[in-house]
Amino acid sequence: MKITTSSQEVIEREQQSMFQVYRRLPIAVEYASGCRITSVDGDTYLDFLSGIAVSALGYGHPRLIDAITRQAKAFMHLSNVFYQEPQVELAELLVQHTGYARVFFSNSGAEAMEGAIKLARRWGNARGKTEILAFSGGFHGRTYGALSIMAKPLYKDGMEPFLPQTAILPFNNSEALRNAVTKQTCAVVLEFLQGEGGIVFADPDFVNTMLELQEEFGFLIIADEVQAGAGRTGKFFGFDHFLVKPDIVTMAKGIGGGLPLGAILAAQHLENVWDKGMHGTTFGGNPVACAAGIVVMRELYGGVMRNAHEVGCYLRENLSVLQQQFPQIIEEVRGCGLMAGVKLSSPAAPYVEALMKRFVIANATADTVIRLLPPLIATRKDVDEFTAAMQDCLKG
Ligand SMILES: Cc1ncc(COP(=O)(O)O)c(C=O)c1O
Repeated sequence: MKITTSSQEVIEREQQSMFQVYRRLPIAVEYASGCRITSVDGDTYLDFLSGIAVSALGYGHPRLIDAITRQAKAFMHLSNVFYQEPQVELAELLVQHTGYARVFFSNSGAEAMEGAIKLARRWGNARGKTEILAFSGGFHGRTYGALSIMAKPLYKDGMEPFLPQTAILPFNNSEALRNAVTKQTCAVVLEFLQGEGGIVFADPDFVNTMLELQEEFGFLIIADEVQAGAGRTGKFFGFDHFLVKPDIVTMAKGIGGGLPLGAILAAQHLENVWDKGMHGTTFGGNPVACAAGIVVMRELYGGVMRNAHEVGCYLRENLSVLQQQFPQIIEEVRGCGLMAGVKLSSPAAPYVEALMKRFVIANATADTVIRLLPPLIATRKDVDEFTAAMQDCLKG
C-alpha cells in the first residue's frame, strides 16, 4: 500500500480506479480509536455514525482485538466443510439471549435478507403461499431479492426485472396492508424501526393490524434488524419495543463489531424447512468474524446495551432542547437508544457538512433527516461535544 500524504491524494486515486457509486466524505482515514477517527491530514473527528451502525464497540476495542487476533492465529478460514467452534458458540449465545431456535450465518445484511426470503418462500411454497409484502421507506440491501422489496427508484432504475410476487405497500398504513394480504401471502418483511427511511418506528396500531392479519391468514413476519438490532436501540432487537415475536429475523452490521457478519434467526417451527445443501456460503460464519461476534454479545449483555439506552436518552434530551431553541429548523427528534434521527424542515446534507467542518461525523438520510448512530460505548461527554457542535451549526 502506498504511504499517503493527504486526503486529496487518496480521493484523486480513488476517482481513477473505482466505480463512482459512493457519496463519500472527503476524508481518508489513517486510524480510529474509541469514538474518534483521525484522518491522514491529522484531523480528529467525533464519530456519530460508527461505520453506519457497525462499530458497536467503537474502534480498537481491546477485548475485540484480542479475540480476533487469537482466532486469526488459530485459523482464519476453513469453510463450512468443517465444524467451527466460534460459529457454534455465537449461535448458542444468540439462541440463548433471543429465544430463536436456529441460526444461519452470512457475511452481510443483504445476504441475510436473501436467505430469509428463500427460507420464507420454501416454507410458503409447501402451503401455496408465495407473495412477499414489504414497505416504502424500508432498506434491505443491494441484492435482487432485497431490491425487489424496496421502493426507491435510485436503487433500482434500469436494473429490472426484479423478483415476481413481491409488493411494496405504504409503511404504517393499516388499510393498505389489510387490502393486500391474502391466503397467498407468504411473508411480510419490515424494519420495526426504519433506518435509511429516516429513523421511523412502526406505528403500534399498524403492528397490531399485522398481527391480527397473521392470525387470520398465516403468513410469516420477517424482521429486518440489520440496522436496529444488536443492542442499538437499548434493547437487543428494535422489535423488542413491541409485543411481537417475528418468525424470522435478519441481523448484520453491529453483530460483527466491524467484521463482515450477518445472521438469519428463525423460530422453532421453521427449523426443518431447509434440508442439507439447500442454502450455504463459502465465507459466511467466518471464524474471525464470529470470534468478534462473541465479544460483541458479551459486551452488549455486560453493560453496553444499558449504556446505549442511557446515553441514548441523554442524546434525545439534548436534541429536544435544541428543537426548542430552533423550532423553525428542527421538526422532530426520533428514534431510540443510540439510533436517533433529527427531522429538519430543509435538506440535512448542508448540516452534515457543517458538522464535519466542526469535526463531527453524522449522516443525512431520507433527504431531511440527520441520522446519528454513534458507537454504543459513546459517553455523555461525547453527546455534550456533539450537542455543542450541532448547536453551533444551527446558529448558522
Ligand atoms: C435495515 C437494513 N437491512 C439491510 C441492509 C443491507 O446490509 P448490507 O449493506 O450489509 O448488505 C442495511 C444496510 O444499510 C440495512 O440498513
